[in-house]
Amino acid sequence: MQTLRNTELDGQQASWPQYMQRAIELAASVFSAAPNPRVGCVIVKENAQAGDTVLGEGWHKGAGLPHAEPDAIADAHRRATEASGDTPATEPRHAQAQSLPAGSTAFVTLEPCCHTGRTGPCSVALIEAGVERVVIASLDPNPKVSGGGIAALEASGIEVFFLQDFEDSARRLNRGFFSRLERQRPFVRCKLAMSLDGRTALANGESKWITSEAARSDVQRLRAECDAIVTGIETVLADDPSMTLRPAEMGLSPQQLECNEHRFSKPPVRVVLDSQARLSDSAKIVLGNGRCLAYRLNGAGESATAPSRYENRFAPSANVSDSRVSLPSVLDSLASLDECNEVLVEAGATLSASFIEAGLVDELIVYIAPKLLGRDGRPLLNISGLDQLSDALNFDVDAVERIGADIKVTLRPR
Ligand SMILES: NC(=O)c1ccc[n+]([C@@H]2O[C@H](COP(=O)([O-])OP(=O)(O)OC[C@H]3O[C@@H](n4cnc5c(N)ncnc54)[C@H](OP(=O)(O)O)[C@@H]3O)[C@@H](O)[C@H]2O)c1
Repeated sequence: MQTLRNTELDGQQASWPQYMQRAIELAASVFSAAPNPRVGCVIVKENAQAGDTVLGEGWHKGAGLPHAEPDAIADAHRRATEASGDTPATEPRHAQAQSLPAGSTAFVTLEPCCHTGRTGPCSVALIEAGVERVVIASLDPNPKVSGGGIAALEASGIEVFFLQDFEDSARRLNRGFFSRLERQRPFVRCKLAMSLDGRTALANGESKWITSEAARSDVQRLRAECDAIVTGIETVLADDPSMTLRPAEMGLSPQQLECNEHRFSKPPVRVVLDSQARLSDSAKIVLGNGRCLAYRLNGAGESATAPSRYENRFAPSANVSDSRVSLPSVLDSLASLDECNEVLVEAGATLSASFIEAGLVDELIVYIAPKLLGRDGRPLLNISGLDQLSDALNFDVDAVERIGADIKVTLRPR
């Protein structure tokens, strides 16, 4: 495999960044393909004299559905059939094996796989379709692949190139997938909403709604990107939230809705951290569509005999002086048992602070409403014991956006 930076591309390769950028955009057209990575593929017949032709484009929409490469090969076949005026084949796009024109190049955001899972190996699909070269933007950390896809392509005489300048964006597309495979824990985002003076509710707890409808619609998109939504039992007891995915509130185009049908049919698991087993069967978070999981401390509520509508999972406490479930063990099990790539923490000041103080938050998202709730209002985070400025928890600002009437700040712990 040859590693190239954009500045090292020769005249014939000058358009490669444009095709890889397109492959990344295709991959990003789904919110999540979990537990699989989001992958895009563009197949091009390059011709310096006559101009390049994009033969086909594809992307992965979710587990069990065609991977990006077979999807792009099938798209190339469909386009060729339409151009020739023949009757299009009736079988599904991924079921067709056919040859591409000689000299074709496939641009793929992730190393093609070489193992048979729910679908066949993509490296074999590319070899059988007759591509001449494959350009990738990231290596697959999955131990079942991890260089094996590249080796299979090269063993068949296909040239493989790694476009290094796209690696950051390709990994960013799948930061949850990389996190689960490289760190054995999901990528964790924590979302909070507050007033201009850092309050989340009035002293009496009234908080609906601090932020605008546009911000709440944006939160729906955050939910669509994650595989588990984690909250604390106190939020459930105080607000009785449903924590469901509501595509109709996301402001999506008909095409985006269609593209994400698979994602919406498999909503994120709703997770309540409930050390003392206080969650009721009639809570809205339990009753919504899809799975609801409750973590309780080893031994808590074990004597209850009635089956509950949610799944119970037991966890150890963080340490002997803490009677609350251990957050690292919750994240470990969400990664290993549920294959969660991304987790969204939507909790109150107590649980959100615990996640941040434990260093388990990879991204903090704060919606700031242009309102003042006064000094008696409830604080954003229950963090105490910071006596000196040098004890402060520091963040870097990744993005600041205006969402409706509010401001959205995306931060990374330093
Ligand atoms: N502004 C916002 O963005 C936002 C978002 C969500 C909620 N809220 C508001 O927050 C309020 C509730 O906040 P809250 O701070 O009281 O509750 P919370 O943070 O939602 O839940 C705290 C509870 O989670 C449980 N928990 C389990 N393991 C834990 C651990 N390792 N660390 C910390 N907690 C753990 C604890 O109860 P057990 O010990 O019994 O397990 C704890 O009391 C609600 O009124 C809601 O409206 C605001």
